[in-house]
Amino acid sequence: MQVTIIGFGTMGQAIAKALSDYAGAVKVFGIDKHNLHDNVSAKNIQKSDFLILAIKPQDAKEALKQVKISLNKKTILISIMAGVSIKKLVALSGQKRIIRMMPNLGLSVGEGIAFWKASGLSLPEVKKAKNLINKITENFETKNEDAINKVTAISGSGPAYFFLLADCLIKTSQSLGFTQDESRKLVGKTLKASALLSKEADYSELIKKIASKGGTTEAALKVFRKKNIARLVEEAVFSAYRRAQELNNA
Ligand SMILES: NC(=O)c1ccc[n+]([C@@H]2O[C@H](COP(=O)([O-])OP(=O)(O)OC[C@H]3O[C@@H](n4cnc5c(N)ncnc54)[C@H](OP(=O)(O)O)[C@@H]3O)[C@@H](O)[C@H]2O)c1
Repeated sequence: MQVTIIGFGTMGQAIAKALSDYAGAVKVFGIDKHNLHDNVSAKNIQKSDFLILAIKPQDAKEALKQVKISLNKKTILISIMAGVSIKKLVALSGQKRIIRMMPNLGLSVGEGIAFWKASGLSLPEVKKAKNLINKITENFETKNEDAINKVTAISGSGPAYFFLLADCLIKTSQSLGFTQDESRKLVGKTLKASALLSKEADYSELIKKIASKGGTTEAALKVFRKKNIARLVEEAVFSAYRRAQELNNA
């Protein structure tokens, strides 16, 4: 199976790394701006079973203008771009076989999660695509394209939300007098342990295990709740969801 990845930045390279575990079965070729126009790339695009678009939405028009020349009609195009609709992908690429997928950076450490929707594929082609996607990330198929915009706002952007909270904790730890090194260790180990512990029970049960009545954790949680953290998270996620919908027109 031949896979070509257009856009070899954070996600393009992460996908190539995930597929490197299957080097015997999947041949991967990465294309960036510097080799987009050469003959080797054109040949690789031409014989690809899958072409993965891992460029920014605003670069899609320019990249696809070039790629289109070499594309084989049977190639299945997989776009991981936030916001760009299947309709727009068909218009820009001239391809009929399209998968729109929203993965996350977790796939670079074997912990990815994604939603995808197929359009214009036969059942055997969907099976073939599912076989490839399984090699990259844990995934769900959906028939509802707008679900991809919603997934973008939850798990696509999600790692950044946890990193933001971790960064705030590091800064607070430093203002309590700990060094940057100590703070990074305190927060980093806590974040890793929380992820591992989360496999054991529901989040609300885990909170109860840590927060005893009248204790220190409860004092902190009271502040989070008084400032309506649930509302803040909802507002932030809806803002990302709306932005994903808007990006289609960018
Ligand atoms: N990062 C995430 O966590 C994440 C998660 C899910 C989905 N996504 C989606 O994945 C896509 C890529 O994101 P990313 O974070 O990997 O971005 P990135 O690190 O900026 O990678 C994009 C790459 O595409 C290259 N590029 C730009 N124009 C090109 C062209 N015409 N032909 C070939 N390559 C071109 C860029 O080169 P230059 O740097 O030289 O411009 C860059 O290397 C985005 O659409 C995003 O919505 C990202």
